[in-house]
Amino acid sequence: MISTYKNISLLNYNTFGIDATAALLVEYTEASDLKTIFSTYKDMPFFHIGGGSNILFTRDYDGMILHSRIMGKEIMSEGSDGVVIKVGAGENWDDFVAYCVSHNYSGIENLSLIPGEVGASAVQNIGAYGAEAKDVITNVYVYDINDGSFKVIPVDECAYAYRESRFKHEKNFIVTHVEYRLSKKFVPDIAYGNIKSRLKDENNVTLSELRDTIIEIRKEKLPDPAVTGNAGSFFMNPVVSNEVFEKLYEKYPQMPHYVMGNGVKIPAGWLIEQCGWKGKSLGNAGVHKNQALVLINLGGASAREVVNLSSAIVNDVKEKFGIDIHPEVYFI
Ligand code: EPU
Repeated sequence: MISTYKNISLLNYNTFGIDATAALLVEYTEASDLKTIFSTYKDMPFFHIGGGSNILFTRDYDGMILHSRIMGKEIMSEGSDGVVIKVGAGENWDDFVAYCVSHNYSGIENLSLIPGEVGASAVQNIGAYGAEAKDVITNVYVYDINDGSFKVIPVDECAYAYRESRFKHEKNFIVTHVEYRLSKKFVPDIAYGNIKSRLKDENNVTLSELRDTIIEIRKEKLPDPAVTGNAGSFFMNPVVSNEVFEKLYEKYPQMPHYVMGNGVKIPAGWLIEQCGWKGKSLGNAGVHKNQALVLINLGGASAREVVNLSSAIVNDVKEKFGIDIHPEVYFI
């Protein structure tokens, strides 16, 4: 089923709580609806959203905003070790995590409480607490606008990297379903940050206890978008070369860092905090007091105020550390 809305406020379609208007909003419940939509609105510019938790509308959108309402979970195969499930792109991500945990399917419990929808998990390669969507995705089902066909793209052809995939760039692909392989043999991944210290007994952790712990940590650090407008991490964590890192580390020996294959990752939250921005604001846009990587709407913030705050932070980080940080949030 296709539902269309003209000149509609997008306030309820972005977690930042920015009030922009779209010329057209189209929601659909079946993959096959995409054929009809793209033949009806052939030449209209479009942008596909998910739960709206990683976007910033900088002005009204004079085109078509698309939103998937494709639901459903289908078990594709099942063995004694695990299960392969195909899920509709419009399913709420955390509802899916809760479903998996309640069925004792493990692999995505560390991704608990991430806002957004299943489709976006495959586009953005969502990640948290040592886990990434790409590690459990097997196939991504897409509609290809270019030739009007449906395709199944195996995970190794998705060009996955940190918060990166081909779907972020090849806008002709619309994700309709995502297939994940989950395990029935739970091996807890508790190496990240302070997870261990929160567990009753780190050698005897259950799947649901790990989910609850992740939820607890997130609730402490990250503002609830239902209460305070935000889009999670506003910036990506930069990766710098070993040479750049060595120089900085001499000056800032307390700097947290993670050695990667291609350099050293430095938490942008730390860089921003060192610049004195944590808990500060510019107009109605602010930096969260518990996690400097998150920009918040203090109430009635305009997109302009958020963009100004973002630019001021980018400039200060560049000036103090010589590092370029880039928004993870997509500006529309
Ligand atoms: N840090 C600070 N000050 C801050 C924030 C962080 O010093 O204000 C330091 C922390 O002390 C820690 C390090 O930075 O040493 C990392 O902090 P944290 O564990 O909070 O993670 P992050 O790197 O800031 C990333 C993801 C989050 C994800 C967490 C946990 C990105 C852009 N963000 O944040 O993802 O939840 O790790 O895995 O990679 C999101 O993408 O929206 C998101 C919330």
